[in-house]
Amino acid sequence: MLHVIDHPLIRHKLTVMRDRNTGTKDFRENLDEIGSLMVYEVTRDLPVADVEIETPICSYTAKTLESPVVVAPILRAGLGMVSGILSLIPTAKVAHIGLYRDEKTLEPHTYFEKYPPNIEEATVLIVDPMLATGGSANAAIDMVKRQGAKNIKLVCLVGAPEGVKAVEREHPDVDIYLAALDEKLNENGYIVPGLGDAGDRIFGTK
Ligand code: PRP
Ligand code: URA
Repeated sequence: MLHVIDHPLIRHKLTVMRDRNTGTKDFRENLDEIGSLMVYEVTRDLPVADVEIETPICSYTAKTLESPVVVAPILRAGLGMVSGILSLIPTAKVAHIGLYRDEKTLEPHTYFEKYPPNIEEATVLIVDPMLATGGSANAAIDMVKRQGAKNIKLVCLVGAPEGVKAVEREHPDVDIYLAALDEKLNENGYIVPGLGDAGDRIFGTK
């Protein structure tokens, strides 16, 4: 299912990121902040369990997160969302999924993967600012499913309808969260209006 997290603060920060005149520092900072704002909504349905504690006043049956959270950025651009998410879920473990999209064929290529133990019990948040053709997201979901992950959410900033359809088709069990659903892909596979090449804008590469 697709969830577009529409909030004035997210819209404002995304506008800063879309602007071609925004430099690396502001691009990174706004990505980080949107990551934090989005994760509050993304985790709204996480299960909680009872825990017995002593408050300064009395014994109390309180609530705590029932299962661990794993943040799984798709390298490189997904790295830009990790610290914002960890600021709200500091106990989360971090997986790394190394994928790049061939510029001509737009096919994803895997070059690295590393996972924390017990991923099968965790809620796994696959994060990447851009969902274009959906090839990278589908490959990343395949990879974490091969590790045994069952509860997977895909968290992106900007998505194209083509990418959303591709993920919904291959992985109907995975909820997709976007800050914005854009218009389309252009002939080079870039999202329109989009924000350009997220990885290059985060890391100052070309
Ligand atoms: C970008 C982006 C996604 C992918 C989206 O990464 O961060 O991972 O493209 O495109 P898709 O939906 O068509 O697969 P890229 O391959 O440019 O690598 P980078 O993050 O290292 O720049
Ligand atoms: N990857 C990006 O970084 N931007 C796009 O618009 C599409 C894929």
